[in-house]
Amino acid sequence: MIFGIGLANHLYTSTVARMIQTRDIKLVGIVGSGIMGSGIAEVVSRAGMDVVVCSRAEQTAHATRSAIEKSLANKLSKAKISQEQMDTAMSHVYVTSKIEDLANCDLVIESAIEDLTTKQRLFVELDKVVKLSCVLTTNTSTLPVIEMARSTNRPDKVCGIHFFNPAVIMPLVEIIRPITASDETIALANAFVATCGKDGVQVADRAGFIVNALLFPYLNNAIAMLEAGTASMEDIDTAMKGGCNFPMGPFALLDLVGLDTSVSILEALYSEFKSSNLEPRPTLRKLVEQGKLGRKSKQGFYNY
Ligand SMILES: NC(=O)c1ccc[n+]([C@@H]2O[C@H](COP(=O)([O-])OP(=O)(O)OC[C@H]3O[C@@H](n4cnc5c(N)ncnc54)[C@H](O)[C@@H]3O)[C@@H](O)[C@H]2O)c1
Repeated sequence: MIFGIGLANHLYTSTVARMIQTRDIKLVGIVGSGIMGSGIAEVVSRAGMDVVVCSRAEQTAHATRSAIEKSLANKLSKAKISQEQMDTAMSHVYVTSKIEDLANCDLVIESAIEDLTTKQRLFVELDKVVKLSCVLTTNTSTLPVIEMARSTNRPDKVCGIHFFNPAVIMPLVEIIRPITASDETIALANAFVATCGKDGVQVADRAGFIVNALLFPYLNNAIAMLEAGTASMEDIDTAMKGGCNFPMGPFALLDLVGLDTSVSILEALYSEFKSSNLEPRPTLRKLVEQGKLGRKSKQGFYNY
């Protein structure tokens, strides 16, 4: 059962004219409704495409729709969007707890936890339920996209579409091309990213792609510096903002990314590049063991 405004059938039979700029993408599926899944859904809905978010439970599916509505209402209250823009965006948002409801999607973005086995299992399931023409993509931060492509019978129609956090604000999207992807798949990904109003860059399928391969050694080294007693985390954050003109320091950024996600990213980078400064620092692991995952759990390096 798909939940949204109007009947589920509306998704497939609507005669209402829609402002869809990417001719071949009318319905986008998103698997996973965490920080990124719900942010990407808001981006897609505001770009005028229908989006159906698949959560693991019906309750979290409804919570996702409410979270998107709250985020849009917040922008409305600050006069960043109009009531009409909010209503139009919400009319594009559907949620479900059943992966079969993604059957008619033209493009699916998998955005579940950063764990290869979980993602491969989802790709196997998606490959069975979505129509043959559907392009399957992953929002992974570091994992090999080829391993997900090979879990399907359509490796030519699989690529990475890596949004940044917060998806609504960050302009960059990395388009990751595994060796199996066809030109058509990459062209469709490029068109989709452009329709979302984002700046796409193309990158080969290597751990960390561009941004995280450069960013995470720095973030891990900031924790090593804290552990060595060189400076407090507040002073390290202040130094990198004031000295490098970064909008936030490394500890605030780790909390924003999520500390569990950060461990997974570092592990994937370490397993590919084997550099000792990519091994997740003990302090990072300890915080995750304590359930302190950053902003999303209200406690990380800082309290929220
Ligand atoms: N957090 C970031 O800054 C960031 C930025 C870009 C990309 N990413 C990537 O986006 C993806 C999601 O990250 P997030 O930050 O939204 O994480 P999150 O922890 O906020 O959400 C993870 C989601 O995965 C779902 N999930 C967990 N186990 C699952 C399973 N077995 N099957 C299906 N779904 C499952 C959870 O219910 C949740 O909805 C990851 O691949 C991550 O690397 C994260």
